[in-house]
Amino acid sequence: MIVAYYSLTGNTRRLVARLAPPGERVELTRDTTLTEPFVLVTPTYNFGEIPQVVAEFLESNNEYLVAVIGTGNRNWADNFAIAGRKVATRYGVPLIGTVELAGTPEDYRTLIERMRLLDEIH
Ligand SMILES: Cc1cc2nc3c(=O)[nH]c(=O)nc-3n(C[C@H](O)[C@H](O)[C@H](O)COP(=O)(O)O)c2cc1C
Repeated sequence: MIVAYYSLTGNTRRLVARLAPPGERVELTRDTTLTEPFVLVTPTYNFGEIPQVVAEFLESNNEYLVAVIGTGNRNWADNFAIAGRKVATRYGVPLIGTVELAGTPEDYRTLIERMRLLDEIH
């Protein structure tokens, strides 16, 4: 399963490095096109927003979106990792986890197992 992610300050990039080998991870730009099943990992920015690059990427690349993982910082309370929830709602896919900053070994184990289960059905 491809893991597509956006990262401005590196936390999500460090998380994804623990979740997928180099050949199975893609750092998003506005020009990225994906034509096979992928899990999206997105931070939340600017008071609960989906990052603009992620929103634009999804407008033309939601067909193969299988699931989403939200990242963020718990300091943002009710808005913690809420971009992941927004993507899940907008595109009707499961939110398979929320992770603070770059995550913990426990987060890696949980997410790798959930992505393995998704691989079995996609
Ligand atoms: C201006 C700004 C706004 C943010 N807003 C939120 C937010 O609404 N919810 C949240 O959970 N985290 C928020 N964060 C925290 C980032 O999502 C968090 O630091 C994340 O790990 C950044 O991922 P990245 O390092 O991969 O870019 C915000 C950070 C900044 C700088």
